[in-house]
Amino acid sequence: MLIRVLFVCLGNTCRSPAAEAVFGGWLKCQGLADRIQLDSASIADDHVGQPANERMIRAAAVRSIDMVHLRSRQVTRTDFDWFDWIVAMDNSNLTSLQAMMPASSRARLCLMLDYLGAFRQQIPDPYYGVVTDFEYVLDVLQQACEPLYDRLMRHD
Ligand code: 4NP
Repeated sequence: MLIRVLFVCLGNTCRSPAAEAVFGGWLKCQGLADRIQLDSASIADDHVGQPANERMIRAAAVRSIDMVHLRSRQVTRTDFDWFDWIVAMDNSNLTSLQAMMPASSRARLCLMLDYLGAFRQQIPDPYYGVVTDFEYVLDVLQQACEPLYDRLMRHD
């Protein structure tokens, strides 16, 4: 059964497109890409139609993760019907998603780092930060791939 996963952050230019690219690359490496369909979207509409943040693209490229093709889009009501899981990067994103979620939606909402054990926390917004803030985002996203995958495959 195909599982559909949507990653969400404020602008869909830094963290959520990076999550899509990192998790997509990890799935491909593991030979699991046909099991999960990925996308990413924003809460705000400021960057709709724009490529990912240049500094995020550069930091990802250093790790051979390609983000060049991604474009920002905003979360829609239909996303709550289409996706099985909607994965927020921080608590503010999660609160916004909970407020938007139609009562009929069967999508499951969680935080990206919910399954990372001792590291459980939010992914901080790197937008006003420095290079190491972008690298940190990639570090935690890479660590979160396996625990997230294990959770998605659990049928409860
Ligand atoms: P993201 O980062 O939510 O990880 O994509 C941000 C991108 C843009 C803005 C804030 C955060 N902004 O204020 O425009």
